[in-house]
Amino acid sequence: MCSVASAADYEKDIKPLLKERCVACHGTVKQKGGLRLDAGSLILKGGKHSAVTPGHSDTSGLLQRVLSTDPDEQMPPEGARLTASQIDALRQWIDSGAKVPNNEPVPKSPAEHWSFQPVKRPAIPKSAHTHPIDAFVFGLADAPPATTPRALLRRLHLDLTGLPPTIAEQESALPIDTIIDNLLTRPEYGERWARHWLDVVRYADSNGYERDAEKPFVWRYRDYVINALNNDKPFDRFVIEQIAGDELPDKSLESHIATGFLRLGHWDDEPADPPTDRFDQLDDIVSTTGQAFLGLTIGCARCHDHKFEPLSQRDYYSLVAVFNPLERPRQGRTELTVKIGDTEVYTLKQVAGTLPLTHVLLRGSPSRLGDRVEPASPAILSETAATLAKKSRLGLAQWIASEKNSLTARVIVNRVWQQHFGQGLVSTANDFGLMGAAPSHPELLDWLAHWFVHDAKWSLKKLHRLMLTSRAWQSSSVEQRAKSGESNPAVASPGSSSGSSPYALGSQLYRYRRLEVEAIRDSMLAVSGQLNPKRFGPAMKPSIPAAALEANTDKDKIWKASDEREASRRSIYTFIKRGLVVPMLETLDLADTVSSCPQRQVTTVAPQALTLFNGDFVNEQARHFAARLKREAGDDATKQITLACRLALCREPSSDELTKMRAFLQNEPLEQLCRVILNLNEFVYPE
Ligand code: HEC
Ligand code: HEC
Repeated sequence: MCSVASAADYEKDIKPLLKERCVACHGTVKQKGGLRLDAGSLILKGGKHSAVTPGHSDTSGLLQRVLSTDPDEQMPPEGARLTASQIDALRQWIDSGAKVPNNEPVPKSPAEHWSFQPVKRPAIPKSAHTHPIDAFVFGLADAPPATTPRALLRRLHLDLTGLPPTIAEQESALPIDTIIDNLLTRPEYGERWARHWLDVVRYADSNGYERDAEKPFVWRYRDYVINALNNDKPFDRFVIEQIAGDELPDKSLESHIATGFLRLGHWDDEPADPPTDRFDQLDDIVSTTGQAFLGLTIGCARCHDHKFEPLSQRDYYSLVAVFNPLERPRQGRTELTVKIGDTEVYTLKQVAGTLPLTHVLLRGSPSRLGDRVEPASPAILSETAATLAKKSRLGLAQWIASEKNSLTARVIVNRVWQQHFGQGLVSTANDFGLMGAAPSHPELLDWLAHWFVHDAKWSLKKLHRLMLTSRAWQSSSVEQRAKSGESNPAVASPGSSSGSSPYALGSQLYRYRRLEVEAIRDSMLAVSGQLNPKRFGPAMKPSIPAAALEANTDKDKIWKASDEREASRRSIYTFIKRGLVVPMLETLDLADTVSSCPQRQVTTVAPQALTLFNGDFVNEQARHFAARLKREAGDDATKQITLACRLALCREPSSDELTKMRAFLQNEPLEQLCRVILNLNEFVYPE
C-alpha cells in the first residue's frame, strides 16, 4: 500500500529526531517518566505507560504528548515544539507498524556502569602462580624474569621509603619478605607515602591568590597523614577522620587535626564577589571529596547537570548542603585557628545557631535559587544512597567509608597500585565515572578491593605487602627499557602501552620510570650524607635562587630561606607556597597545588637538566658527597669510586666504568665525578 511506501524510516528519520529533542531526558543519564527513547526496543517497551502502540498513532502516548497543548503534558516540555513534518514522520512510523531493527544495540544505562556495581570477589584464575596477583596477571602463561636482587633491593627501598639502601642494608642478606616488612615499619615509609596522599588532597602551606598568606599550623595535618600511615590507621577510619573527625563519638585532638583536609584549598582572602567566593570554597571541598575518595567528577554538576555522568545539580548541592554549616574562622583577612584542648588547629568551624539552608543554584549563580535540598549522597549510587540525618558530615563520611560503597575501596586500591607499578589498573585515578578509563584488569581490581576491605581490614600496609611480593611487581624492567630506548628513557611516556609482547609496558607490571622529585632530592641528601632526619613540625624553606625571586614586588620578604641544616630535611617538610613553588620541585613536576592531583606528570624539559646538573642544590650535594667519600674511603681513587657507586647506585662499578672514572679523576676534582654520578639516569630511574 502506498502509505507503507511513504512511511518514515526509523534509522533515517525517527532516531535522529528523538536523539536531538528527547534523549537528553529519556536516555541513559535520565529516564523521565521511566521512559527511554534511545533504542527502538526501549521505545516499544515504554515507560510508566506504553509510549507506542504499533499501527495506532492515535492511541500512542508518544504522539499524544508531542501534540498536546497542555503545558503539563506537552513534549518536549521546553524549547521549540516539534515541526509539523517531524510530527508527521512520527505518525507515519507508528501507523506503519513502528518497525525497529532487531540488532540495534541498547546504550548501557549509567546505573550499570562497572564502578557503580557492588564489589564482588571474583575467583582467582587457574594458574601455576601461587600469588593471587600473579594468577590474575599471568594466568597460565609464564611470568617474566625477576629483576636482580640488587636492583630489587634498591627498588624496594626507593618505593617504600624514597631513600636508597645504605651499605649495611646492601650487605645484609635478608629474605625479600623480611625486607618488605622491615621497611614498612620505618618512619621513612610514612614520610614517603604521605606525600602521595598530599597530592590527592591538594595540600599546600599557603592560600594562593594575591596575598598567598600562610595557613597557620597546617603542617599538623601533614604530620597527621605521616603518622596515620606509619600507624597503619585503617583506611576507612582515615577517610572518616578527614571528613568528620570532629563529629566522631570518640573524637580526639588527632581526629580534629584530620579535618584540616576540608580547609586545605586555595582561597581568596579579599574576594571581589563574596557570595560567589563562599560557593567557590564549598566547591573546593565538594569537588575534592568527590575526586579523592570516590573518583567522581562531581564538580562538573555545579552549574548544570553533569553532561556525561549521571550526576545532577541536585546531587551536587546535596553535597554542598553537607558542608554548608562550616565556616572559615577569620578576623578580616587573617585566618584564625580553632582551639581544641590546649592546641592551635587548622580546621573549619561549625556555624553557631541555626544551620543555613541550601538550594540548588541555577547555573551556579548564588543569586538564582532553585529547589531547596537536604544533605544526601549522589542518587546514582542508589545501592547505598543515604539521606543524611543530623550529623550529616559524619553520615557522609561513614557512607563513603562503608564496605558497601562501590567506589571507595576500588579507588584507593587503584591509587596504591599506581604508585607501586607506575600506572593504575584504571589509568584515570580520579575518575571512575563513565568518562574515566575502563580498568585494564577489572577482575584483579575487584579482587584486590574486596580483599583489602574484608581480609586486610583496610590495612594499607597489608596491601603494600601483597603487591610488592608479587612477581608482577618484582619483574625485571629490562625488556621495557629495550622497548622504550634505553639511551633516553625519559621519552617513554606513561600510558604508551603498545607492542606485541604479552607483558610490555602494561599497567600490570612494574614500570621503569623516573622517581618523583622528592625522592630524587632526598636520595641526593642521603647519598651526600647531609640528610637531616628531623621529623614533623613547621615547614622548612630551601633557598631559592635570587633570579627566581626577582619578579616579586616584595622579593626581599617573600621567602626567608632556612639555614642549610634545616633545609636538608626530607622534601615533604618543604614549605609549599602556592604562588612561589621551590624551582627545583616545580621543574621536576611537583603536583598541582590547587586541585586534587591524581598522578604526577613526567615531563622532559631542558630546565630539568640544568637543575640537576648546574643547580646550586645538586652542586652542594656533590661537594658534600665528595667530602664524604674522602672521609670514608681515604685518598684511593678506586676505593672512592667503588664507594660512590655503592652509595648512589647500590652496585659496584664495572671494570670499564672504573677505568673511565679513574681517568676522569686525573683531570677533574672528585666533586665533579660526584656530580656526574648524581646525574646518571640510573640514579633517578630505579631499574
Ligand atoms: C527536558 C526534559 C524532557 C525532554 C527533552 C522530553 N521529555 Fe518527555 N518527559 C519528561 C518528563 C519530566 C516526563 C515525566 C512527567 C510527565 O509525565 O510529564 C516525561 C514523560 C514523557 C512521556 C510519558 C512517559 C510515561 O510512560 O509516563 C512521554 C511519552 C514522553 N515524555 C515523550 C517525550 C518525547 C517524544 C520527547 C521528545 C520529542 C520528550 N519526551 C522530550 C521530560 C522531557
Ligand atoms: C562554573 C559553571 C560551570 C561548571 C563548573 C561547568 N560548566 Fe559546563 N557549562 C557551563 C555553561 C554556562 C554552559 C553553557 C550552557 C549549558 O549548556 O548549560 C556549559 C556547557 C557545557 C557543555 C555543553 C557544551 C556545548 O558545546 O554545548 C558541556 C559538554 C559541559 N558544559 C561540560 C562540563 C564539564 C565536563 C564540566 C566539569 C569539568 C563542566 N561543564 C563544569 C558552566 C559550567
